Amino acid sequence: MRKHVIAIDGPAASGKSTTARQVAQRLGFVHMNSGLFYRAITWASLRDGWSDDIERLREGVARLSILPIVEAGVLDVQVRGVRPGIALQGRDVSTRVSAVSATDFVRKRVLQLLRATAKEADVVCDGRDIGSVVFPDAHLKVFLVADVRERARRRLLDYQVEPSVEAIEEEAERLRARDDADSTRALAPLVKAAGAVEIDTTRLAPEAVIHRILELAGERGMRAPEG
Ligand code: DC
Repeated sequence: MRKHVIAIDGPAASGKSTTARQVAQRLGFVHMNSGLFYRAITWASLRDGWSDDIERLREGVARLSILPIVEAGVLDVQVRGVRPGIALQGRDVSTRVSAVSATDFVRKRVLQLLRATAKEADVVCDGRDIGSVVFPDAHLKVFLVADVRERARRRLLDYQVEPSVEAIEEEAERLRARDDADSTRALAPLVKAAGAVEIDTTRLAPEAVIHRILELAGERGMRAPEG
């Protein structure tokens, strides 16, 4: 039988990943955070100094060994035998990742990795183009949105930074720039996929968002295992 796919897309810091992880855990699916692959490639390119030149980036990506690892229901990524872990969430990677992920060869590589992983397990996959390009026939597509200031506030709390008015405004500016880059690029831009259910999380507690998605999944025949 075809494995199940739930696609969750949305802009930066809209809570996709936390939500996807929880939904996957409760359904017994694997959580695939597609951004991790883009971040892993960006991390390697920054380390090797081939992030700025498109031809060197192309060659570097072609040679790069990158491996999905599923552990305890969560996808992690191994780059050249190393698992960079938290280093993938750093500011330098976050600043550079939009440009790296806007290239066709990087997108092709990540698409192959995601599709290969989803052949092996039921997945909840989050990203920007999951419902539109990677898994257009997903069993459930969700598009998460939230006000940019609320997203900035949540991101600061993740970074354990006091969310003062000034800090929120500064972070919101960074998020707007990334949203703009991700939504206006020519290849697989961030869009609400055909058939996606939009959920605005600005005033919703994380549990309410998870509950709503589990409800939608249940309506489509995907339920938590008994017991
Ligand atoms: O979700 P994230 O912030 O970890 O994603 C990092 C970047 O990767 C994001 O700015 C755009 C890119 N990305 C993408 O282009 N397509 C995806 N499906 C997921 C991420």
